[in-house]
Amino acid sequence: MFNPKEKYYHAEDQDILATLANQVSKSQYLPKYHIYPKSGLMNDPNGLAYFQGSYHVFFQWYPYDAVHGLKHWGHTTSQDLIHWSDQEMALIPNQEFEKNGCYSGNAIEHDGQLFLFYTANYKTPAGKIAKQAMAIMSSDGSIKKLAAPIIDGAPEGLSGELRDPFVFERDDQFYMLLGGSKFTGENREGFGDEGVLLLYQSDDLYNWHYVALIDLPIDTGYMLECPSLIKVDGQDVLMLSPMGISESAGQFKNRFATVQLVGHLDIDNLKFIPSTDDVLEIDSGFDYYAPQAFYGEHQQPISFAWFGCGEPMYTIDQEKWKHGLTMPQTLTLNDTHLYRFPVPELLKAFDTLTPIQSLELQIESKYYRLHLEGGCHIAIGDEHDSWTLKYDVKTSLVTLSRAGLANQIDPEYGIERQAKIEQLNTVDIFVDNSFIEIYLNEGERTFCFRSFQDNVGKLRLLDHQIKASYGQYTN
Ligand code: FRU
Repeated sequence: MFNPKEKYYHAEDQDILATLANQVSKSQYLPKYHIYPKSGLMNDPNGLAYFQGSYHVFFQWYPYDAVHGLKHWGHTTSQDLIHWSDQEMALIPNQEFEKNGCYSGNAIEHDGQLFLFYTANYKTPAGKIAKQAMAIMSSDGSIKKLAAPIIDGAPEGLSGELRDPFVFERDDQFYMLLGGSKFTGENREGFGDEGVLLLYQSDDLYNWHYVALIDLPIDTGYMLECPSLIKVDGQDVLMLSPMGISESAGQFKNRFATVQLVGHLDIDNLKFIPSTDDVLEIDSGFDYYAPQAFYGEHQQPISFAWFGCGEPMYTIDQEKWKHGLTMPQTLTLNDTHLYRFPVPELLKAFDTLTPIQSLELQIESKYYRLHLEGGCHIAIGDEHDSWTLKYDVKTSLVTLSRAGLANQIDPEYGIERQAKIEQLNTVDIFVDNSFIEIYLNEGERTFCFRSFQDNVGKLRLLDHQIKASYGQYTN
């Protein structure tokens, strides 16, 4: 027997994992077009890249149970962002310096190799010692870790909770962003009391030196996780996952929040200069965290996020699988506003939209796209087990409510989420069994959330003005 949270992967465990995967494959709530764990718990997307003709998605993974156990990097690849093939376990926390897990990080291609950066989680009785590590994937797909961390320890005044390297290139220099926590007085169990973003620099990807903290124009809570930076239509988009920011203006209601900044990362002056004063959560749903962005096959900016947040209990946890990733989303800017919409490759995998002529429809599938124009008031599911989405023109608020679900999820964090939208033109809802993504005005605002229902194909239009159409997922 093994400690159910602390086991790291050995090739001899194939049988154990095959048995678990077989159990998971019987779940009635599995998605078809979202990446999900074949067993165990999946969280953050890591190391996203288009490399050697394939898309590579790595992810935080504990394969043995549906719990946040010892973190590995799982790995899956695709040619088309639709069909994914599972690869060997990419990073196994089997070295002393990473004994408490291979935590999140990103990847960049350099000299024909893919450099993978991650946090080597290292706990001591006196708290964590911050260590950042690197592995290199060669063109033949083999992955080799460096024998020692590339950054060992945290700068003065910062907690050992320092993680999630995001490396990028600018003006022929390599830079790394790290999320951390600064002590300004109070110490909350290893964390400081202010979330911070750190900048490191390197000439060769191997040797790194600390530059400084980056000044951010937002509340960063007590800890910042998973920074991610990408150029979209000429501007910098910085995605952050702060812990401990409080609810404001109807936003940030989840356990942990995500924030998007659009503007310019001014490296010389060590600050992010925003193009707008609006501080927006990235997604307004219940289950979205730790997004990471990267450049796709045609250098187009794409992001994936963890389809989950924190540690909610699901009634299906005994099925031994938990969470997944969002659909890949193309990033675009409209002036200063970030739009995210499913990549065109994936959109093609749905049937052409067919108009819906009645107020009620039973779709004979759990996997479909629903498109609405001319307003929004709908319920998905049977009368005793459904969620609703409603637009109120007077307040300009779109309200998603899980109040009517038979299987309530995490009600202590509220049963409704809202997003403000001045003029609602279109709504696209992607139902993938228990994984649901909603896009308002093709990604001006979005809601990602889980819902475990017996009948997700039952659709009720609660306002007869709405023009609705749908297309089934065809793969
Ligand atoms: C975010 C996070 C990261 C960390 C990883 C561990 O969800 O907490 O900060 O690297 O998950 O799995």
